[in-house]
Amino acid sequence: MPASSNVVDGRAIAAQIQSELSVRVAALKGRGVTPGLAFVRVGEDPASKVYVGRKEKACAELGIVSETHILPEQTSEAELLALIARLNAATHLHGILVQAPLPRQIRESLVFSAVLPTKDVDGFHPVNVGKLMLGDTTGFKPCTPAGVVELLIRSGVKTEGAEVVILGRGNIVGKPMAAMLCQKGRTANSTITICHSATRDIKAHCLRADIIVAAMGSAHFVKADMVKPGVVIMDVGVNRISDSSAKSGARLVGDVDFEAIQPIASKITPNPGGVGPMTIAMLLQNTVRAAEQSLG
Ligand code: GUN
Repeated sequence: MPASSNVVDGRAIAAQIQSELSVRVAALKGRGVTPGLAFVRVGEDPASKVYVGRKEKACAELGIVSETHILPEQTSEAELLALIARLNAATHLHGILVQAPLPRQIRESLVFSAVLPTKDVDGFHPVNVGKLMLGDTTGFKPCTPAGVVELLIRSGVKTEGAEVVILGRGNIVGKPMAAMLCQKGRTANSTITICHSATRDIKAHCLRADIIVAAMGSAHFVKADMVKPGVVIMDVGVNRISDSSAKSGARLVGDVDFEAIQPIASKITPNPGGVGPMTIAMLLQNTVRAAEQSLG
């Protein structure tokens, strides 16, 4: 990718963060601590398998020891909570990640609340959600929106005073994204609009935006006539669409029509290779921090 490109290279920025983290991992090992992370996957959701596999690989590359607990689709809430209690008590584990989505019989909110806040490297526990809202930086922040903030900072985007339009109000991206970018501080300080399924005129909001974070999970939803020239696009969407020219008959695309918008945007994340690698980098960062904090 040429240096002059307006395409934000998430892989390169994630690699930079991983090399910064490797110094901290070495320091921890020097003090006798190897960061440990447990993954929990319930059922056989194909996307979850891929995501957890990528996270395991990234841990191994950085020297974080990970273990993956795979439970059957029919697992009860009580069984999953019992496993989480064991992982909470395990001193070799500094982080626990329960991959979402979970099967229907399991209430996600109950599960996320059961993980010790000090091991909640996903930032989904109500204590960490509350700390994020309060601007208390001692909590863990959810990895995907934290990765978007890091991409903005490291690619030189000024967020101060910017009009940010977030598409999607989910607990994993939309809501925490809004909380992060509206905080007081040089790397936030934005004016936030959250659009969702009941928003009357999404196009009108998008046309005002200096920065659009697309996280609603709808393939190519954002079209070229919905954005102003010079817009910064952070595309969180991962959608499978059929494509007869692809070997598998399908390909992954974002929530944004990349080909049409790239020529008019000032910066845009590709898909893949944009936000995805940053989610993993932030998970590694949270896990390293959890291990550091375990030393008191
Ligand atoms: N499913 C989609 N994104 C995430 C994430 O960041 N963490 C977990 N645990 N599950 C997810």
